[in-house]
Amino acid sequence: MTYSRIVGTGRYLPERIMTNADLEKIVDTTDEWIRTRTGVERRHVCADDQTTSDMCIEAAKVAIEDAGISVADIDMVITGTTTPDLIFPNISTLIQHKLGIPPCIAFSLEAACTGFIYALVTADKFIKAGEAKCVLVLGAECITKLVDWSDRNTCVLFGDGAGAAILKPSKEPGIIACHLGADGKHKDLLYYPVGASNNLAAAGTDGTAIHMAGSEVFKVAVKTLGDIASKSLENAGVGKDELDWLVPHQANIRIIQAMAKRIGVPMEKVIVTVQDHGNTSAASVPMALDVGIRDGRLKQGQLILMEAFGGGFTWGTVLMRL
Ligand code: UT7
Repeated sequence: MTYSRIVGTGRYLPERIMTNADLEKIVDTTDEWIRTRTGVERRHVCADDQTTSDMCIEAAKVAIEDAGISVADIDMVITGTTTPDLIFPNISTLIQHKLGIPPCIAFSLEAACTGFIYALVTADKFIKAGEAKCVLVLGAECITKLVDWSDRNTCVLFGDGAGAAILKPSKEPGIIACHLGADGKHKDLLYYPVGASNNLAAAGTDGTAIHMAGSEVFKVAVKTLGDIASKSLENAGVGKDELDWLVPHQANIRIIQAMAKRIGVPMEKVIVTVQDHGNTSAASVPMALDVGIRDGRLKQGQLILMEAFGGGFTWGTVLMRL
């Protein structure tokens, strides 16, 4: 049986760091409120002229080097993002061309904060079907460009960044089990009110911003993430004690803690980056994975559960051996 396995990772965070103290100067908030209610201490914010593909290029270069491959080996690029450079061509084609990857399958998909998990699961299927041999999978976001910096309910939460992984076929697992889901009935709890076919002229104007019913999103997120994590372990016949690490979406430390408690995994086994990155949407899981690998906590052969939840709502898990 062919499995797929992550053989290299990388991340890129923009140079500019915005601390909670910086936010105290522009909205009616406090460092104490942000830290205790969300866990965020700082976030990276991309420059005005910096695009999501610019960040992806940097993250991809690190992942390519880490994997010990060359750009010529890559035969597929998938990017999970809600903030592409352009409506079209899709961002993966921009990345493919800018990196000098030979012509290949290249597309993006939009699943909000679950974008990387959706992209990774898709790449896994292509590899298992024998249709791809080396996939560059990205989760990236310039989400701060959608933020209303006068809205304290949302502006304190988000940050920018890009995470990358190289996925290749393997005789050993690799990705063991995946679960994806979505339910559009929750659309009004978390959305950005502009799209290519709707309200486009309003983009960037005052009053056009991320809408979030925070505490309702919070409740559904904890329940859904807890349920899908437990179900994923159960379906794979893996006990929670066998799990080496949980790499969750980094939306809020309280969501992470509540979800970990719900599934019975101690916080010592959870990778947490929300304090340094904020909520980077589709970039959060691959960046947290890269942080854990590079600081030596995540080791080859360990059993890891990644999971995410976002606008839609969408959700997903990937259980894998590193
Ligand atoms: O990425 C996936 C999707 N996103 C999420 O998963 C986010 C889910 N939601 C959350 O993380 C939390 O609900 C928030 C962090 C957004 C909000 O935390 P909360 O504990 O649910 O607060 P709240 O919205 O119930 O607001 C509590 C109070 C309110 O004041 P009153 O009405 O009690 O007087 C807010 O106005 O906190 C106030 N507040 C703030 N105060 C200081 C809201 N934002 C701020 C702020 N600084 N930045």
